[in-house]
Amino acid sequence: MQLIVKNDCSGVEWEAVAATLQLAGMAFHDPDKHRRAFEASYAVVFLYDSGKLIGFGRAISDGEYQAAIYDCAVTPSYQGKGLGRVIMENLHAGIAHCNIILYASPGKEGFYEKYHFRRMKTGMALFTDRDAKKEKGFTE
Ligand SMILES: CC(C)(COP(=O)(O)OP(=O)(O)OC[C@H]1O[C@@H](n2cnc3c(N)ncnc32)[C@H](O)[C@@H]1OP(=O)(O)O)[C@@H](O)C(=O)NCCC(=O)NCCS
Repeated sequence: MQLIVKNDCSGVEWEAVAATLQLAGMAFHDPDKHRRAFEASYAVVFLYDSGKLIGFGRAISDGEYQAAIYDCAVTPSYQGKGLGRVIMENLHAGIAHCNIILYASPGKEGFYEKYHFRRMKTGMALFTDRDAKKEKGFTE
């Protein structure tokens, strides 16, 4: 693998972002919506193998003391090779001075525990698709 790590949105094929999220079993949207979301984020990371997008993640933040991580995904055929770690360490480096929250896909909590994330006792969310999120196991 010839891994390249980029921290900007230039040259990103947003169709590939949507397709990767779909393949990874995560929520996905119109490619242009992903472009706007990543471009509006505080920190972004994109991983490439020989020019092919194979993983990414993003953090939103006020840049001072609060941040949240979203859309971390690795192309299924590249999972289990340490790329999720690259994404998390790279994102964390840009927001290490902040409290960081995220919500894991059900079953992926152990991945984030590796990076010292812990379950919140009072975390609450108002999802736009709240019935679907409940059905998928995100909320009570
Ligand atoms: C979750 C995901 C980003 C992890 O990426 P990855 O490249 O497969 O992970 P890595 O190979 O870098 O693994 C890093 C560490 O996390 C561990 N890990 C990975 N997935 C895990 C899981 N589901 N539960 C517990 N530990 C996990 C690995 O064993 C490894 O541990 P080690 O460093 O002690 O060997 C990737 O599997 C993925 O895209 N999944 C589908 C999308 C998704 O669910 N994203 C998260 C949304 S909240």
